[in-house]
Amino acid sequence: MRVEMPIRTERLVLRPLRAEDADALHAYHRREDVARYLYRPPLDREGCAKLIARSVESPEWGTTGADLGLAVCLRGQVIGETGLRLRSALAAQAEIGWVFAPEYAGHGYATEAARAVLAAAFGPLKVHRVYARLDADNKPSWRVCERLGMRREAYLVDSDVNPATGTWGSEYVYAMLAREFAG
Ligand SMILES: CC(C)(COP(=O)(O)OP(=O)(O)OC[C@H]1O[C@@H](n2cnc3c(N)ncnc32)[C@H](O)[C@@H]1OP(=O)(O)O)[C@@H](O)C(=O)NCCC(=O)NCCS
Repeated sequence: MRVEMPIRTERLVLRPLRAEDADALHAYHRREDVARYLYRPPLDREGCAKLIARSVESPEWGTTGADLGLAVCLRGQVIGETGLRLRSALAAQAEIGWVFAPEYAGHGYATEAARAVLAAAFGPLKVHRVYARLDADNKPSWRVCERLGMRREAYLVDSDVNPATGTWGSEYVYAMLAREFAG
């Protein structure tokens, strides 16, 4: 179970994260507004290197916990990242996520990249169900889910504490099945 790399979309190139991406990721992960709904503080450069290492050192796809972290490049520049985590190999359940530099917001890049990740998940990676968990106040993120055609399946009330605000956070769970993507 492997995906041919890089993945090319109409405007973007997606390829595995690599150690040299730490500065590019740090440029946006350091920002409070980017970390706001990520349930952890902004990342320093070392935190970005760790995030990349988690993906670089991930077990092969097919093992629970496998992490496919992809840099999203526009004209050779890393503008964000997306990826999949295999939460259950047995049940073929994967979690999708995305973080983009705010300068590139509002052009549909996150949606375009995530759609390519769904195609990889439901194609070569043989995932049965892809889901996303996101803060209910993170409207730009749940709008990505809705543009992708994912279904809002759950509203988890006060399911976490947001360290940025010190307040309870409620989450939405969105999901899509392989047979729905084909449709
Ligand atoms: C979540 C996040 C990736 C969403 O970014 P985004 O720019 O809103 O999403 P997209 O790149 O898909 O762009 C969609 C916007 O571009 C517009 N757009 C312009 N051209 C478009 C095109 N060709 N295709 C689709 N949308 C387009 C859409 O209308 C939409 O704007 P709207 O929401 O005002 O209607 C971004 O806010 C982010 O990185 N946040 C910080 C990290 C984070 O919270 N991640 C999620 C954790 S769960």
